[in-house]
Amino acid sequence: MTARNRPLALITGASAGIGATFARALASRGYDLILVARRRERLEELARELEARHGACVETLPADLADDAGLRKVEERIASPAPDLLVNNAGFGTHGRFWEAPLETQDRMHRVHVIATMRLTHAALAVMVPRGTGAIINVSSVAGFAASPGNVSYCATKHWINAFTEGLYLELKSAGSQVKVQALCPGFTYSEFHDVMGRDRSLIPQPWWLQPEYVVNASLEGLERGELFVVPSFRYRMVVRAIRILPDGLRRRLTQVYARRRKLE
Ligand SMILES: NC(=O)c1ccc[n+]([C@@H]2O[C@H](COP(=O)([O-])OP(=O)(O)OC[C@H]3O[C@@H](n4cnc5c(N)ncnc54)[C@H](OP(=O)(O)O)[C@@H]3O)[C@@H](O)[C@H]2O)c1
Repeated sequence: MTARNRPLALITGASAGIGATFARALASRGYDLILVARRRERLEELARELEARHGACVETLPADLADDAGLRKVEERIASPAPDLLVNNAGFGTHGRFWEAPLETQDRMHRVHVIATMRLTHAALAVMVPRGTGAIINVSSVAGFAASPGNVSYCATKHWINAFTEGLYLELKSAGSQVKVQALCPGFTYSEFHDVMGRDRSLIPQPWWLQPEYVVNASLEGLERGELFVVPSFRYRMVVRAIRILPDGLRRRLTQVYARRRKLE
């Protein structure tokens, strides 16, 4: 809680897309906010909007989460006063075969999706668990249930987020803690994600696209219910179910056909 007795949320990747949508949704629900991303002007513009529209107290914390110094700055901010909700959302995609894509980009992806999520979660739980309240949403993906050519590091890092969040869920339950954790696993969602990747959105048929507001609402409703995995939309829940029950060989063959059709490699 802040000095004004309002809940406080820290959101990474808040300068665009799903992160900015979380910021708007949480401000409208009475949260004060700490917004993290690299683009300072974007964060400041959003902060002004949320202060004017919702009377939220919004702090901007520009930081590159692939960078040790940036990450330390956010860890230190989490320590005091600790947020009631941490949303580990920052992320990006790449395309191209693993061995042909630049190693530097793969390395940055692991730092942002894995190392930053792990370290910020550790910093937050160090305060939330003794306090007995708090919640963490780790933004994963439907890709976290799959493996796909052209998407090797992305799927692998999102698998890690799913396994990490499930492990924490079990540890918190077995410790009798009220702190909640969630892995939010959206499918294709309108945001800047595909622009940053340089991907043509029209390769994915329109019915597969989700609005970020829909994704964020599903996450916050799932959090109320204490759901571990939130997969927004019936269509994507069926995809995840199919991935889980198909025999491995068939699943791999179907994935290769799909990736070729969607020119994902
Ligand atoms: N859109 C989809 O189809 C989709 C589907 C499933 C899962 N997701 C996941 O949803 C999350 C949000 O993505 P989005 O769709 O909202 O994409 P987006 O619109 O491109 O937003 C990505 C956010 O992450 C931030 N970010 C990226 N690298 C960063 C770094 N090194 N340090 C700090 N911040 C960084 C960006 O801010 P700056 O550039 O200002 O740093 C931006 O605010 C990601 O984890 C993504 O994997 C997206």
